[in-house]
Amino acid sequence: MLTVDPRTAEPHTLAPAAAVLRRGGLVAFPTETVYGLGADARSAAAVTRVFAAKGRPADNPLIVHVGSLAAAERVVASMPPLAAALAARWWPGPLTLVLDAAPGLAAATTGRLATVAVRVPDHPVALALLAAADLAVAAPSANRSGRPSPTTAAHVCTDLGDAVDLVVDGGPCRVGVESTVVDARGSAPVVLREGAVTREQLGLGATDTGPGDLDASPGTRYRHYAPACRVELAPPGEGPARAATLAAGGETVGLVARRPGQPPVRTLAVARDTADLARALYGALRAAEAAGVDVVVVEGVADTGLGRAVMDRLRRAAAR
Ligand code: TXA
Ligand code: MG
Repeated sequence: MLTVDPRTAEPHTLAPAAAVLRRGGLVAFPTETVYGLGADARSAAAVTRVFAAKGRPADNPLIVHVGSLAAAERVVASMPPLAAALAARWWPGPLTLVLDAAPGLAAATTGRLATVAVRVPDHPVALALLAAADLAVAAPSANRSGRPSPTTAAHVCTDLGDAVDLVVDGGPCRVGVESTVVDARGSAPVVLREGAVTREQLGLGATDTGPGDLDASPGTRYRHYAPACRVELAPPGEGPARAATLAAGGETVGLVARRPGQPPVRTLAVARDTADLARALYGALRAAEAAGVDVVVVEGVADTGLGRAVMDRLRRAAAR
């Protein structure tokens, strides 16, 4: 474990982690969204280890993390005007652009697609690591496949243990849900995965989905984000009551809601608004599992703005 204070992160502080990446090793590191499991995106051997560590299906490509627009331009075949505008507006930030891939990336990185997903993360530790390594770093979320994404270094250690060569601990993630993935090859962004940048912020209608939306991101086909216990989604405002009903039926119940529940319901997180819920959700799902509850009731939020990404994750976690 390498602990780095985000306020004082410099490339030289990250030199040990950069060295691990440069020799083909795996480094887990914080981003503003969730922790990533990084490897040299051009090294087939390194990227193969990422898939093995996660237990990830080989047809689910990775996001390539770079430190700058110039570095992004080296992994894509071209940066069409829409992509350049989105990058100028959102990078560093939680927007991932799918573009035609340049040659040179490991085939496993792109899942053998002709496209590559790329972003510049908005986290001082991630940026210092990318600068120190001077590599394009393929990094999926640093969880075992299908589990809640990690928002602390401890979550990474729980899931991956010795399968990762080094974990960089930069504290808890600020956003808590993953980046928005958009296909930026055409004249308008096509959302492939809902995330931290909202449709509204992308200038898209809040509810309408365009042709191809949410079809083409291989990862969204899989059940995901689920802890070992049952997850039940309650309508906004109804979490504590639903949890009490389940507890009265004899189950051990955890709760994530706007207001705390009454014992014996175990309140795992109180989230005052959607951003709070985004930040707390994955950690609370893991806490539910650690507490050994039978079921965790999570109170939903309005399906707009950041709430779309949160509700997408919750529906997948609750799916049986
Ligand atoms: O916030 C994030 O995006 C985090 C941090 C670590 O950056 N990363 C992350 O990676 O969530 P991962 O591997 O858990 O999710 C990547 C998503 C998957 O749904 C994958 O299918 C999609 O991006 N993706 C990757 N390359 C793609 C491509 N060429 N075309 C379409 N979708 C792609
Ligand atoms: Mg993931």
